[in-house]
Amino acid sequence: MKYFLYRYKNKIVALLIGCCVLCCCPSALFTNHTSNYNRPKGHKISEEKVLNFPEGFLWGTATASYQVEGGNFSSNWWRFEQKEGAIKNGDSAETAVDHYNRFEEDFDLLKELNLNSYRFSIEWSRIEPEKGKFNVEEVEHYRQVLKALHEKGIEPMVTLWHFSLPIWFEDEGGWESREAINHYEEYVEFIVENLKDEVELWITMNEPMAYITCTYVSAKWAPAKVDFAKVPSVFSNLVKAHKRAYDIIHELDQGAKVGIAEHSSYIVPYNENNILENLGAFLSTYFWVNFPIDQIVNYADFLGIHYYYKQVIRMDLVRDVITKRDPQEIEVESLGRIYHPQGLYEILLRYKKYDLPIYITEIGVPDYHEVDRDQFIREHVRELYYAIREGIDVRGFYYWTLLDCFEWTEGYGPEFGLISVDRDTLERTIKDDAWEYADIAKCNCVGN
Ligand code: FCB
Repeated sequence: MKYFLYRYKNKIVALLIGCCVLCCCPSALFTNHTSNYNRPKGHKISEEKVLNFPEGFLWGTATASYQVEGGNFSSNWWRFEQKEGAIKNGDSAETAVDHYNRFEEDFDLLKELNLNSYRFSIEWSRIEPEKGKFNVEEVEHYRQVLKALHEKGIEPMVTLWHFSLPIWFEDEGGWESREAINHYEEYVEFIVENLKDEVELWITMNEPMAYITCTYVSAKWAPAKVDFAKVPSVFSNLVKAHKRAYDIIHELDQGAKVGIAEHSSYIVPYNENNILENLGAFLSTYFWVNFPIDQIVNYADFLGIHYYYKQVIRMDLVRDVITKRDPQEIEVESLGRIYHPQGLYEILLRYKKYDLPIYITEIGVPDYHEVDRDQFIREHVRELYYAIREGIDVRGFYYWTLLDCFEWTEGYGPEFGLISVDRDTLERTIKDDAWEYADIAKCNCVGN
């Protein structure tokens, strides 16, 4: 048995990850449905009128370089975009929202919204457009970005890799190749050596499990080839790369705090008495949430958790024929996501066992008709308060995202921003429903 497990470990892991990933893919056999939600026993709603957050709590927004900067022509996403039909409506990040040139103006808006932190990513393909050739001017650009933030009293959180990769890296086999770890190490070393004086909070990588799913399983993302067999080696290389980055950052700066940003939905069975649906929910949660974190937990000073929606596992072969909607819950129209604030509370309790500080490094909602953004934020922030009250050490909340921007293969369709951007003039306007978040950040509290 031991021999069998050892010999076939890669295949077994691939199969299990595949099953779970299928559970999590909206287009797969399993479909998402809503189900009733009851608060856990013992959970008491506070009587207080105002729920106060711990002093020094970070209220921020998050962005990713490829989605906002524009001009990232050495990125594999730029090459991918050129393929017909790759991006909805033929949209392109050629200019994106020109955050590369307008970051000062954007930080003024961030400040106007009373936010005290900003999570953004460094574009690897700008820093190292050709293998081994590091661009000093580009690192200087990011130094200016960091300086601008500090001048405005905004704490930066820097993501070293957020989905987009240099073209040469992809051509050398991307994360499939063992060399990837060395390449990533060199890049991380260069960045941290140059920017360590300006940054305390580092995120090594964004949502590795989502990256694996969208790249190798659903194959919606560059280079868009379904290849299940690659999943275990890519996963293992990403874990190693994270650990190396963690060590390098600490070697270069002992005061740094290093974490990873993980996608985490709240996954439940449609019917609590259905064994298969329970198993599906359990395995999906295990492989999406716990398994990846278990691998790196000794190499993290904090965890970055993303929460957008609930997923309900239903073994429904005749898709959508027997769909029941619970009127209490609302499905976000544009992306088929289920709005469920209490899920944030639930997932945070699951992270308690790791005994690490947590930042909600992404949470957000696109513009749509049924739930307003201000309601979305208010209700999730309340759930966050309840989790903190249960002893979960949450230190920051980063709304996704600052500006309406390029949403990967969805193009400019889903508009998650606190600020809208005119696609012709690139003029920015703070949305009405962003002010609720500004008020929360200002008083470091939320009304109950
Ligand atoms: C997250 C990604 C981010 C953005 C939001 C909507 O999973 O990290 O880049 O696409 O979803």
